[in-house]
Amino acid sequence: MLLEIPQVLPRDALVRLREITSSAAWTDGSITAGTQSEKTKNNMQIPEDAPASREGGGIILDCLAKSALFFTAALPRHIFPPLFNCYRGSTNVFGSHVDNAVRTDRATGKHIRTDLSATLFLSDPSEYDGGELVIEDTFGTKSVKLAAGDLILYPASSVHRVEPVTRGARVASFFWLESMVREDDRRRLLFDMDMAILGLRNSIGDTPKVVRLTGCYHNLLRQWAVV
Ligand code: NI
Repeated sequence: MLLEIPQVLPRDALVRLREITSSAAWTDGSITAGTQSEKTKNNMQIPEDAPASREGGGIILDCLAKSALFFTAALPRHIFPPLFNCYRGSTNVFGSHVDNAVRTDRATGKHIRTDLSATLFLSDPSEYDGGELVIEDTFGTKSVKLAAGDLILYPASSVHRVEPVTRGARVASFFWLESMVREDDRRRLLFDMDMAILGLRNSIGDTPKVVRLTGCYHNLLRQWAVV
């Protein structure tokens, strides 16, 4: 499932993250690449143990915790600490690849299965040309370029790439997460059901049938969730 989640970052968080990323020391982005993706990856990153990554990642995790849409879509079990990348000048592209299936959080040694990938845009589309995130899904190919502060959630199993940035700089945060519900089709079904129930509650209130339907959602989640 591909899902755009608008306005994950409030204005003050976005301003602070742009300050942090503009003063950070950037290094070669191949530091987190796998052996296949290393060949196609040509961008810059802030090292994951840098103070800028820690502070910036913390701000993003706080904002994600307040997003009900992010929670119900991702059903996160473990979130890899958010990282930051920049595409500009001669380091401006990341060719087609699939993200590594398992990531290890160096700070804790914890392994995280990457069910979902996320990109949180920190630059506004007016600030750069190119830089679209292109995701090849079973439903076709989708090209994504969102407003600063917006997030795209997509299956980590998909082949994806970042098109060359030909003007300006594209700064973003990216991270992976392990979901309580591993299977994409089950997560999708739960998300659709939750959204439909929310719509019913808003239009007709918590009638006895809506309460029973809400119970079905939670009982399905109880069957499928690994926590
Ligand atoms: Ni990737």
